[in-house]
Amino acid sequence: MERLLWLDLACGRGQILEGLSDSLSDRQRSKITYWAYDVDQTYAREAQRAAASLGLAGAKVFVGDLGAFQDALPPDALFDFITLTNTVHEIAPSHLARLLVGAVVRLAPEGTAYIYDMERVKPPELGALPWGAQDVRAIASELVAAFGAPEYEPGVSGWHHRTVDGWHLQIDRKHIGPTAAVLAGGADAAIAAIAITIEALMKRRLADCRRTLEAFTMFGVETAEEQEDRTHLLYDYWALTRALTGDE
Ligand SMILES: C[S@@+](CC[C@H](N)C(=O)[O-])C[C@H]1O[C@@H](n2cnc3c(N)ncnc32)[C@H](O)[C@@H]1O
Repeated sequence: MERLLWLDLACGRGQILEGLSDSLSDRQRSKITYWAYDVDQTYAREAQRAAASLGLAGAKVFVGDLGAFQDALPPDALFDFITLTNTVHEIAPSHLARLLVGAVVRLAPEGTAYIYDMERVKPPELGALPWGAQDVRAIASELVAAFGAPEYEPGVSGWHHRTVDGWHLQIDRKHIGPTAAVLAGGADAAIAAIAITIEALMKRRLADCRRTLEAFTMFGVETAEEQEDRTHLLYDYWALTRALTGDE
């Protein structure tokens, strides 16, 4: 590829760029134009500085909420690579469907979206709702089905780390047929369908949470691991209840 346009959503300080000088040659890096998007202006500027030191073809920052990223970017910009890392747990579930659909609509015909997050936030954060690989698989299936490609199974892999597990979702635009304009036309219907899936997953998680918390209450927690599980379940319970009652 001669040129690659990369959009890093919720870029933070540009942590994803760390290690790029080891993993890509000078020539490969010189083909990349990096656009960073974050609600935090200081972070976005840091990401731009990090990009500037890497000999990339260019770097730009956009500051705004993820819910508005489509409007903040030039309307005709399509990306070869879109990343969203370590952030899904911070996104209100009611905004998740729109964000995922927006990312797919913004992919170039051969573009790839790469989304990574942890299954558990450590230490737990009030209001954060981490997702597991199984649920992400269900959401991704609904996403491609809603765009008319039900036979395509986007890759979802679990990552086992020492302290916490993670997952990544990779969506390759070439497996989703229609043109960008057709995709954009079907965006609202896709968002509605995915939102229904997300709500059903949250209801199931809330019921699971309640059952396990009840068991912990009745029988007590014995191990440090169970204590940690209970704390995370309480945080999940709170976040799920808020999301399902529209109180995010
Ligand atoms: C945990 S950091 C992840 C940063 C980086 N992507 C990484 O992998 O390390 C989460 C980032 O998401 C940004 N963020 C959270 N909610 C956002 C929103 N609604 N709109 C835009 N950025 C948001 C935060 O400002 C923060 O920079």
